[in-house]
Amino acid sequence: MPLDRSITVRAPAKVNLQLTVGGRRSDGYHELASVFLAVSLFDRVTVTPAEQLGVTLSGPTSGGVPADASNLAAQAVELLAEVSGAEPAVHVHIDKHIPVQGGMAGGSADAAGALVACNTLWNLGMSRHDLASLAAELGSDVPFGVLGGAAFGSGRGERLTPLTVGTTHHWVFATAAFGMSTPEVFAATESGRRNAGLPWAADAVPSPRMSRRLVDALAGDDSHALAETLVNDLEPVVTRLRPELAATLATGRGAGALAGIVCGSGATVGFLAPDRHRAQAVAEALRASGTCAAARIAHGPVQGPEPEETDTTGETP
Ligand code: C5P
Repeated sequence: MPLDRSITVRAPAKVNLQLTVGGRRSDGYHELASVFLAVSLFDRVTVTPAEQLGVTLSGPTSGGVPADASNLAAQAVELLAEVSGAEPAVHVHIDKHIPVQGGMAGGSADAAGALVACNTLWNLGMSRHDLASLAAELGSDVPFGVLGGAAFGSGRGERLTPLTVGTTHHWVFATAAFGMSTPEVFAATESGRRNAGLPWAADAVPSPRMSRRLVDALAGDDSHALAETLVNDLEPVVTRLRPELAATLATGRGAGALAGIVCGSGATVGFLAPDRHRAQAVAEALRASGTCAAARIAHGPVQGPEPEETDTTGETP
């Protein structure tokens, strides 16, 4: 393999349109009914043959992200090498733009991007489906990172069924100056149930189900109809842990968003807008309000990571 060959992918973030949380299983994970939408906030992941596995980072959201073997993208390289018999001798560069600890699966996107990129670099010829199955070993959100588009996720979120989306939806994502820890948010959800005397174990809580209303609205072409169906069971827990996010939600809704929703386990807040123009206006209102660190517009669905080949001059052949 020529040492001057690199593969780059754009790996998209996700927003959960539905996140319904069931009980805790004996392995510690919660049963979920989740509708994922891939949106146009991207990290760029580049893999290049090297003496040994290494990670470097750049980009506006790279602060505090580990540049070593603990990075989920490095773990993805090791896993794919192990199952394919390839040597994990690649350098992974991640140009980060997706919020970190933001509930948008940025680390999972990087891992998914590394799987897709190494599959091409090493000429493995694995299908998306096979890569997505392998991805579940890395984290609950990594399989969706491999697929992109829109999908329903069951189990702990990793068992995916692709969904039809009738139109492009326009979003604003308000990032926070702080991050949320996903395990802490799930743990707080569970202790809230225990304290209220509610069932919390998976065998005592009904299995969460896909929202038919939401999936039907997603297949249609009306963002207003979709806005009425968005649901995130983690949102009340996240806003209790971080009450300042209530002001972010109120600002975006007051500025003309059709709906505002905490992304996954937070801390990013997503707003669905009627069109791109009004998304810009909501983003401007959010920036002016001081209720978030940054506000970025995006659209979805977008496809999962697609490989682009470059040589050392940086040109796409
Ligand atoms: O799968 P992943 O490693 O991304 O999950 C991170 C953490 O989030 C888990 O260790 C768990 O605490 C929590 N989680 C959960 N139930 C899920 C997914 C994640 O409790 N379905």
